[in-house]
Amino acid sequence: MIELKKCFKIEFLGFLLLLNMFLLCMARSNIPSIDWVLKETSYTRLCSTKNILTVNGLFPGPALHVHKGDRLTVNVQNQGNYNVTIHWHGVKQPRNPWSDGPVYVTQCPIKPGANFSYEIMFSTEEGTLWWHAHSDWSPATVHGPIIIHPKIGTNYPFPKPYAEFPIVLSSWYKGDVMENIQTALANGGEPNKSDALTINGQPGDLYNCSKPETSNIMVDHGKTYLLRVINSIMNEEMFLMIAQHNFTVVGMDGAYIKPIKTSYVMITPGQTMDVLLTANQSPSHYYIAGRAFGETVYDNTTTTAIIKYSGNYTVPSTPSFPNLPNYSDVDAVTSFTQRIRALASKEHPIDVPKSVHKRLVITISMNTIPCANNSCDGPNGSRLASSLNNVSFSEPKMDILQAYYRKIRGIFTTDFPSEPNVFNFTADETPENALIPERATKVRVLEYNWNVEIVFQGTNVLNAAENHPMHLHGYSFYVVGMGFGNFDKNTHPKGYNLVDPPELNTMGIPTKGWAAIRFKADNPGVWFMHCHLERHASWGMDTVLIVKNGTTQATSIRSAPHHLNPC
Ligand code: C2O
Ligand code: CU
Repeated sequence: MIELKKCFKIEFLGFLLLLNMFLLCMARSNIPSIDWVLKETSYTRLCSTKNILTVNGLFPGPALHVHKGDRLTVNVQNQGNYNVTIHWHGVKQPRNPWSDGPVYVTQCPIKPGANFSYEIMFSTEEGTLWWHAHSDWSPATVHGPIIIHPKIGTNYPFPKPYAEFPIVLSSWYKGDVMENIQTALANGGEPNKSDALTINGQPGDLYNCSKPETSNIMVDHGKTYLLRVINSIMNEEMFLMIAQHNFTVVGMDGAYIKPIKTSYVMITPGQTMDVLLTANQSPSHYYIAGRAFGETVYDNTTTTAIIKYSGNYTVPSTPSFPNLPNYSDVDAVTSFTQRIRALASKEHPIDVPKSVHKRLVITISMNTIPCANNSCDGPNGSRLASSLNNVSFSEPKMDILQAYYRKIRGIFTTDFPSEPNVFNFTADETPENALIPERATKVRVLEYNWNVEIVFQGTNVLNAAENHPMHLHGYSFYVVGMGFGNFDKNTHPKGYNLVDPPELNTMGIPTKGWAAIRFKADNPGVWFMHCHLERHASWGMDTVLIVKNGTTQATSIRSAPHHLNPC
């Protein structure tokens, strides 16, 4: 009798297990899945032909279309010559750092010939985001839009546009982009700058051999279009403008904002914008043009596309050209950035932490590291570097997520400083001892559900103050304050905007200034945080935030997928 009971129990448990597996399979198979192939593809730009790494042969890469809250599996097969990973920029991936993508942070690379399946979990995001490779400089050619439509049955918080089109800004290098960064890192100097900036893959009329291929955007008079603007450029923050037309910016980084009517936008690498354009000028051709902002501009070329009205009219010999802000126009950047406010409506509420458990103050610096016999290509024979709180991030041998999850020691340490060494950060002269950073793999651990504030403080170390687009994975954050000079913890927080601060995933920190962000640490995982100027990220302007698990399974990191790529 006892035996029988036991047996039945086991049978019953077995049945439950089977049922569970069946239900799980059903749930899995309901997640749409697509296949991507990474491969070398031949492209001709600026009079020369070369192979670039692409997804499915496309530059820019294919757009992902989803609805808010969807899930999607992307099976990536690497048929290229380099190690690659893919990141879903701005997608929070609740509890799922396994599919976040930054190489040696959440995964080891997908080697040539290998595969990896990413499970992309959308939650609160709505609007435009993007995806890009997240290893070495492969993001130069491996990137594309993520378009998150409102849930079925819900609407945009603005009149439905007549049509929409992407404006993907990218960089074009005549040489091999991977070699470019490898050589720069080996010699300690600057990498070569890009040879062109592009709109939807084309440099436009102002570059050699590019005119016949310039991107065209067709519009009908009187109609309103939704432009999904993505800055995938490697090293330049961009001004973008259309001749004789205004923009209305309605969304940023996958969240809605209060409409901003403006003649130009400033968009940093990493940022995305939803912009309305009404074709309300006399039917003709107009240039849309983009060029860099920066104290020391890197690639100072201008990319264009042409807005062409439908109908019959005399086509001008050259389209009219917009009056773009100057490269060094800090005021144009500040006045645009300060206008950005969350929509904060009943349908699209925000939830800003009103108090904080933990404030981190993080300095952002350019540095140098001494080189034997002063034989490197940086200033005075040194090696260029960059840092956060004077720690220059060094890529570990194995991904930090796996080391953390499996408690493997020796991969990283948890002593990333929560305060910098104090000096006059933004002075014309900065102290000698701020010049040389420590090279290490340091992370900061945060308790689950802490309200966290991070103050990013720009510095003038190496006399190289500039605007740094700081990006956080796994979260979006509220930008509650910003200013010039040094942050003062006693006075500046009194001026914070806790009513309608913009919710972003990338924020340009004012040159010789600071910005304060807040978020609730409710997404357990291992999350990369870095400057989105690729050369700065390559030099070590990165760190990692580890958010601990909560007390339940539903507030903990999901279990590891069966297939992880070996390092
Ligand atoms: Cu858009 Cu860490 O990246
Ligand atoms: Cu930077």
